[in-house]
Amino acid sequence: MDKILHGTSKSLRGAMSVPGDKSISHRAVMLGALSNGETHVTDFLNGADCLSTIGCFRAMGVPIEISDDEKEVTVHGVGLHGLKAPEEILDCGNSGTTTRLISGILAAQIFSSELTGDASIQKRPMKRIMTPLRLMGADITSRYDNDCAPLIIKGQPLHGIRYESPVASAQVKSSILFAGLYADSETTVIEPSLSRDHSERMLRALGAEVSTKKLSDGRAEITIQPANQLNAFSETLSIPGDISSAAYFITAALIVPGSDLLIRNVGINETRAGILDVYRAMGGDIELVNERLSGMEEVADLHVKYSQLHGTEIGGALIPRLIDELPVVMVAALAAEGPTVIKDAQELKVKESNRIKVMADGFRAIGLSALETDDGMILDGYGEDLSAAIRSGVVDSLKDHRIAMTFAVLSLLAGQDATGRPIEITLRDADCTRISYPSFYEDLYLTLR
Ligand code: S3P
Repeated sequence: MDKILHGTSKSLRGAMSVPGDKSISHRAVMLGALSNGETHVTDFLNGADCLSTIGCFRAMGVPIEISDDEKEVTVHGVGLHGLKAPEEILDCGNSGTTTRLISGILAAQIFSSELTGDASIQKRPMKRIMTPLRLMGADITSRYDNDCAPLIIKGQPLHGIRYESPVASAQVKSSILFAGLYADSETTVIEPSLSRDHSERMLRALGAEVSTKKLSDGRAEITIQPANQLNAFSETLSIPGDISSAAYFITAALIVPGSDLLIRNVGINETRAGILDVYRAMGGDIELVNERLSGMEEVADLHVKYSQLHGTEIGGALIPRLIDELPVVMVAALAAEGPTVIKDAQELKVKESNRIKVMADGFRAIGLSALETDDGMILDGYGEDLSAAIRSGVVDSLKDHRIAMTFAVLSLLAGQDATGRPIEITLRDADCTRISYPSFYEDLYLTLR
């Protein structure tokens, strides 16, 4: 479904909250399913991706109850060895996290399975998990021999490995760590820099032995010992608001004049909070209020005010800490004074879409210029002239939820054409926001006052 977007004369004001964290919601279901006992989850993300994870575990015999609003979930764990062979092909939908993390678990089962997903999933690289899982002894093949899903996995006994991952990817790391639960000796993953560490935190809370070492050259070494069992969470797991969803509101509040917004209960885990560092370096007024611990994760309320931003450089170890936020950071860069350089972000090309190309195409479609590079983007900020530079046009989200939400934020600044008619941005497949943020447009328009 397409959506026609116009600018606003209002500002983002008041207080709001965003839905639960996607990465943590996935892991709560997966590890809840593998533990002994019941896991109660509140503020579960009811986006399509996390519902795909639930669907896969139900298909393997795990009883999972969901409330009517799909935000409260109870997982009746079956233990590490209690999954049943699925009768059908497991459907991971649009979710890379589901596909890659489940593969690590399936590799060690006593049954065979096949998993697949939508057109985007079937194009995403799976070699990055197939290689290390095979080193552990897994029998995992790509149905069309193209290193993509559908994947066929014949469960095998696994060995521990020491694996140096070429990418700082939490999906790769988690897939290996989950397989490592079942291995015959310890498993170590070395990453170029530490990627999001929700799996490690949750595994430790469930009694698994996981250690993390930061090496002097910036790499991170994570080791897991084989486990006999995981104990279910003793308390209800309340999922913090997703900083990747909050990113759209943080950005909108920074660039829409007059904004003053409080976003409550946002996860600020260091491995996820790169966007806060970048926006502060750009001159953004963001205050962390009421910092506290929620279960295994740090959270805070974010008080964000309209700010005159200036350009910056983003690269290196910062990239994995804000990889999903980079499209919307590009919008902030356009609203800033001076140039912004984003580099070392080749990973953007293998997300739900090629996010470097799709962003550059989208900007061009509405009259804005940005220089695509092989590993990022160079943006010459328009500063206060951004509004006047936006033209009417058609932006294709390519069904990528983060691209759709990013252009919805940018469109808030659209003005009028020479004849006084409002600029109109047509956003193709705008409803793909249901993947990670089903109530995104309602929340955005409710925040405008
Ligand atoms: C995720 C890890 C990241 C991120 C994705 C969620 C996770 O992917 O982009 O949205 O939950 O582990 P990579 O591991 O490919 O960097």
